[in-house]
Amino acid sequence: MPAQAGPMPPQTVLRTPAPRSLARARELAEPALRAAVAGLHPLPARMAAFSFGWCEADGTPSASPGGKGVRQAFALLGAEAVGAPPGAAVQAAVAVELVHTFSLVHDDIMDGDERRRHRDAAWKAFGTGPAVLTGDALFALAVQTVAGSGGEHAGRAVAHLADCLGELVRGQADDLLFENRPWTGQGAVGVPEYEAMAARKTGALLGCALSLGPVLAGAPPLQTGALAEAGRRLGTAFQIVDDLLGIWGDPRTTGKPVHSDLLRRKKTLPVLAAVALDGGATGRELARLLGPGAPPDAGAARRAAGLVEAAGGREFALEEAHRHAEAAQDCLRGGGLAEGAAAELAALSAYLLERQL
Ligand code: IPE
Ligand code: IPE
Ligand code: MG
Ligand code: MG
Repeated sequence: MPAQAGPMPPQTVLRTPAPRSLARARELAEPALRAAVAGLHPLPARMAAFSFGWCEADGTPSASPGGKGVRQAFALLGAEAVGAPPGAAVQAAVAVELVHTFSLVHDDIMDGDERRRHRDAAWKAFGTGPAVLTGDALFALAVQTVAGSGGEHAGRAVAHLADCLGELVRGQADDLLFENRPWTGQGAVGVPEYEAMAARKTGALLGCALSLGPVLAGAPPLQTGALAEAGRRLGTAFQIVDDLLGIWGDPRTTGKPVHSDLLRRKKTLPVLAAVALDGGATGRELARLLGPGAPPDAGAARRAAGLVEAAGGREFALEEAHRHAEAAQDCLRGGGLAEGAAAELAALSAYLLERQL
């Protein structure tokens, strides 16, 4: 590696290099994504460009890191796995990145988070009303991208995307409702309920990302079903890692706040697992620190993080993420997929499990 003039930017500090599929997908999809966003009304166009990291809030161009582009990479590999034409891969990649960014712009309003992708969240930079509108604009643009793709399977692909959006909304609804449910006793959120929620809020879109190009290309349901289920399991694993980074990640690397899930009493897997694993003093203390009454402060969140780790919640969650990722590989094995794409997908999955951002 060449000598660095100064410290490495935190977002590049990784144990393993990013797989090539992420860069390949960015190269393929970004011109079409930029062109699609440029066609929006100037207000949501500016805000969307800000969210993607292409410009500052005042519109001056920037080279902010933006998102990782995981969904566009899934779209590319899913399309390649069934030999879909490159056009289908690009349309699918653009649509899922648009849906993803829409969901993040709205999610930060729901979660009250002020930072995203190393910059202010869209609502913080531009106001809540414009941020809601920008999410809506991105959502509509995603549907237009698939509907306007022109192929004979576009109608089926739009229905596939709509199913995914419905699932994502159901997952987000459960995520919000869980905030007010107890950690222990009657009405407590269990680990299976959490996993069903994560499979919806995050798994559905990753499943759609892997299968949308194949649906656009008219691939048989056996293949599209295997890809959608694999993506769903990988998305569940991805969400569990997101939960872990929300407690033990470095905001300089993730570009997002740390401990905000704890402060909002989010039912994340490490905490749920800790409470389930240690129903004694630790579980009771966690339920007290993160339960109803006075909202937890930074000190309580730090103490809760320590208790979760000591009770084994961190380790359990990581093992569970690996279990879902392995189940995804099982789904892919029977799908008759192109070997190269399947291998790249396995490399991307491994990277996503050990990511620090
Ligand atoms: C964050 O997704 C939201 C989740 C579904 C966990 P990413 O971690 O892929 O976010 P970006 O696109 O890289 O910012
Ligand atoms: C992200 O959920 C899921 C969607 C946006 C649909 P989170 O709220 O857990 O993701 P982050 O941690 O804010 O990125
Ligand atoms: Mg959030
Ligand atoms: Mg959320």
